[in-house]
Amino acid sequence: MKIAFVGKGGSGKTTLSSLFIRHLAATGVPVVAVDADINQHLGAALGLDEDEAAALPAMGERLPLIKDCLRGSNPRITSAETMIKTTPPGEGSRLLRVQEDNPVYDACAHPVRLDGGAVRLMVTGPFTDADLGVACYHSKTGAVELYLNHLVDGRDEYVVVDMTAGSDSFASGLFTRFDITFLVAEPTRKGVSVYRQYRQYARDFGVVLRVVGNKVQGQDDIDFLRAEVGDDLLLAVGHSDWVRSMEKGRPLRFDLLEDANRSALRALQVAADATYELRDWAHYTRQMVHFHLKNATSWGNERTGVDLAAQVDPGFVLDEDVAAAV
Ligand SMILES: Nc1ncnc2c1ncn2[C@@H]1O[C@H](COP(=O)(O)OP(=O)(O)O)[C@@H](O)[C@H]1O
Ligand SMILES: [Mg+2]
Repeated sequence: MKIAFVGKGGSGKTTLSSLFIRHLAATGVPVVAVDADINQHLGAALGLDEDEAAALPAMGERLPLIKDCLRGSNPRITSAETMIKTTPPGEGSRLLRVQEDNPVYDACAHPVRLDGGAVRLMVTGPFTDADLGVACYHSKTGAVELYLNHLVDGRDEYVVVDMTAGSDSFASGLFTRFDITFLVAEPTRKGVSVYRQYRQYARDFGVVLRVVGNKVQGQDDIDFLRAEVGDDLLLAVGHSDWVRSMEKGRPLRFDLLEDANRSALRALQVAADATYELRDWAHYTRQMVHFHLKNATSWGNERTGVDLAAQVDPGFVLDEDVAAAV
């Protein structure tokens, strides 16, 4: 299951994604955690110290390796240089699983031990000004998009991405790559305005978008969110002393997290799991082709000097059967 946490900076994306990752790890399921937020704090939120977090291998710096691995023996993709962030898989491409060893994890994933389990952590690396442009070849989040577009994930295995709600993910198609997107919103006009913008983009692409209220302080806050986002509001989380204690450098065992927050995390998992039945791999594959062709004409063809439409394998559908056959 592919799950994104998006929202305004400071809303609590990293906090809630890290808690959700801890929750999943504690239940024993396989988890890949991906930090694609502008401010790279997921490692710290998962308990890494400053030195460990700084030493994490950045996906953004390993794009050539990632591309070479993923294109595999796909004859339509003749070099890593002509592979852009939206280049879709086809026959011969190297497909990835959540739980396996592969060259991408070897190069980019770092094991993080949590109470009750371990997860793989991958980080895009810190963003520069160039990364915030709309059409950029070396886009850091492009590494995440390539990963997701080559991933065949089943039920009961999870990829959780802490992600900025920004123009980059809308231009590329990254925002359509998830089974469910949790938009973290504080009960404020700004928090809700990010939701409105996201919903605009999401609506046309069948993106499952649910709002997770954060830092709510009472019924009035919940009423506000309900009035602004209606039934898209899934649940609301209040202030957590457990989180605050960790911020003070005094981490507590995960099983000491407040009951209300533990049940909120279970509800997130229930909502995510329920989307498995909605999956449509053919639609998912068509969307990657749609965004690839869009990127090809808007900048990719010019940038690479080749006709990127020729990379599309018309008969290929990414799904769990095709992965099993490889
Ligand atoms: N439910 C919460 N309880 C206590 N502190 C929180 C909560 N949610 C977020 N915070 C704090 O708010 C700040 C911003 O949260 P963060 O997760 O880093 O936001 P984002 O990733 O969206 O920028 C952090 O200091 C975090 O510890
Ligand atoms: Mg963050």
